Amino acid sequence: MIVWAVANQKGGVGKTTTVVSLAGILAQKGQRVLLIDTDPHASLTSYFDYDSDRLDGTLYELFQAVKPSSELINKVTLKTRFDNISLLPASITLATLDRVMGNREGMGLVLKRALLRIQDSYDYVLIDCPPVLGVMMVNALAACDRILVPVQTEFLALKGLERMMKTFEIMQRSKRDKFRFTVIPTMFDKRTRASLLTLKSIKEQYGEAVWNAVIPIDTKFRDASLEHMPPSIFAPASRGCYAYQTLLTHLDALERKRVQEVVV
Ligand SMILES: Nc1ncnc2c1ncn2[C@@H]1O[C@H](COP(=O)(O)OP(=O)(O)OP(=O)(O)O)[C@@H](O)[C@H]1O
Ligand SMILES: [Mg+2]
Repeated sequence: MIVWAVANQKGGVGKTTTVVSLAGILAQKGQRVLLIDTDPHASLTSYFDYDSDRLDGTLYELFQAVKPSSELINKVTLKTRFDNISLLPASITLATLDRVMGNREGMGLVLKRALLRIQDSYDYVLIDCPPVLGVMMVNALAACDRILVPVQTEFLALKGLERMMKTFEIMQRSKRDKFRFTVIPTMFDKRTRASLLTLKSIKEQYGEAVWNAVIPIDTKFRDASLEHMPPSIFAPASRGCYAYQTLLTHLDALERKRVQEVVV
C-alpha cells in the first residue's frame, strides 16, 4: 500500500483536484484506492456526492476512538459510484479536533495506526489535507510515504511553499526521518509571465524536489468537479488529465526507488 498526502498550507492551489485526478486514473487501472478527506470543509466528500452533515460516521469517529478497530474504519468508509474508489469522509466537526482533543496522548498517529490495520485492503491511499497546520496535517504527514505539494504558479506561491517547508522542518523528528516530498506546479499558464517566472523560482529554490513538468490550467477540471466526476472519467483526453497521468508515472518511479532503498 502506497500512501500519499497532498498538502499545502496555501488554499486553492489544486490539492483536492490532485487527489481526485490521481484517484480516477489509478482506479481505472484497477488499483484499489482509498481517499481520506481530512478537511473540515469536506470538499472531497461533497465531490463524491456525500453530504457530510447527513453521514452516520466520519473521520471524526476514528479520532474519537484514537486507536480505531478495522471494523470501525470499514464502517465509516464509504463506497463511491466509481469502481475502486472508497472514501473516508470528513465532517465539519473535524475543525474542533485541535481544541477538543488536540492534546490527547497518541493524537498525532491516529491515521498512521488506522492505515496499518487496513493495509491489505487498498493499493493506494490519498490524503487530502486542509490548508492549515493542525492535528489533521500532523496526522497526514506522519502517515504518508510521500507528501505531494501542489503549488499554483503565481506570484504569492513561493511564500506558501516556504511556510510548508518550515512545517516539515518543525515536524521532522530527526535528520534520518526526513519527509519525502514532491512539489507539483499547478494551474500553469504558459502565456503569462507570472507562471513562467514563478516556475523558474520554484525550480531554483527546490531543485530536484520539483516535478519537471507541470499541470496546465485547464477548464475541464472545473467542469469535471461540477459533474462530480474524476477528470480522467469526465474528460480522459484533456491536457490536464494527460499531465496527471505523466505525474503518476513519475511518482510510481519514485516509489519503486524508495522500496529498493529500503531493501538494500
Ligand atoms: N489545473 C487547473 N486548471 C484550472 N482549474 C483548476 C486546476 N486545478 C484546480 N482548479 C480549480 O481551482 C479551484 C481550486 O482547486 P482545489 O479545490 O483543488 O484547491 P485546494 O488546494 O484543494 O483548495 P483548498 O485549500 O480550499 O482545499 C477549483 O475550482 C478547481 O476546479
Ligand atoms: Mg481542497
